[in-house]
Amino acid sequence: MAGTSNGGDAKSATAARIYDYYLGGTHNFPADREAAEAMLRVFPGVPELARTNRAFLRRAVRYLAASGVRQFLDIGSGIPTEGNVHEIVQQVAPGARVVYVDIDPVAVAESLELLEGNELATAIMGDLLEPQAILSHPQVKELLDFDQPIGLLLAAVLHFVPDDEAAYEAVGQLRAALAPGSYVVASHATADNVDHDQDDLDVAHDTYRQKTATPLGLRSRSQFERFFTGLELVEPGLVWLPLWRPAPDDPQHFIDAPERSSGLAAVGRAL
Ligand SMILES: C[S@@+](CC[C@H](N)C(=O)[O-])C[C@H]1O[C@@H](n2cnc3c(N)ncnc32)[C@H](O)[C@@H]1O
Repeated sequence: MAGTSNGGDAKSATAARIYDYYLGGTHNFPADREAAEAMLRVFPGVPELARTNRAFLRRAVRYLAASGVRQFLDIGSGIPTEGNVHEIVQQVAPGARVVYVDIDPVAVAESLELLEGNELATAIMGDLLEPQAILSHPQVKELLDFDQPIGLLLAAVLHFVPDDEAAYEAVGQLRAALAPGSYVVASHATADNVDHDQDDLDVAHDTYRQKTATPLGLRSRSQFERFFTGLELVEPGLVWLPLWRPAPDDPQHFIDAPERSSGLAAVGRAL
């Protein structure tokens, strides 16, 4: 598959396994831990950001399920961790269907292992930059009905697609396939907020560019907002991660200074 050279072949660390390390998971290798530690030296708050992002994803998915969405396409789904999408939505609606898509073979293999016996959820290899291959994948077509609303989940993945034109085009093609009443959920890392030291940002960019196949591309608030053009933003709109419908039982990182999360979030509804 073109563009899916993220299997640890050419480069040894992957974004999925580095993120797994931030979250305290066990599906990572020495190269992932080394890359993660390089990030932690300059941005020690990344694990809190990862947990804050997961909490946003859980809240957004719960909101969609409560709003009647029964199908989910989760692209850049990552390695399974606490509070996976199918667990949350199938608690609300046992018949809900979920397809996880990731460029990382470890993420897909671990997801498939977890999903064994669950006929309503699966995981496939796929590249966000190849939306038509995802949309026409036999398992996507088998589990998801594109005539009915779908929750398209793009949590913490768009900043691994630094090419603006390619990213907007890919999301545009995915959105075009969605029926009215569908939702787009996305979160994105940004450097908009605070006085980050440029040297620290350079270390972050260098780490992903040199050690993984998915370079980092932070976006500003307005660049992130463009992914939602033409969608109706669900209240409270595009906000810092911790501020999207906060829940008392979620981690309270960054609650006093949400901009320090460096993460933006929004949920848009297709009309
Ligand atoms: C930071 S993790 C986010 C995981 C999960 N969505 C979450 O928010 O907790 C980013 C994931 O995106 C995946 N990814 C990066 N580029 C991708 C691409 N072009 N297509 C599909 N997945 C991609 C990585 O392999 C990784 O699993």
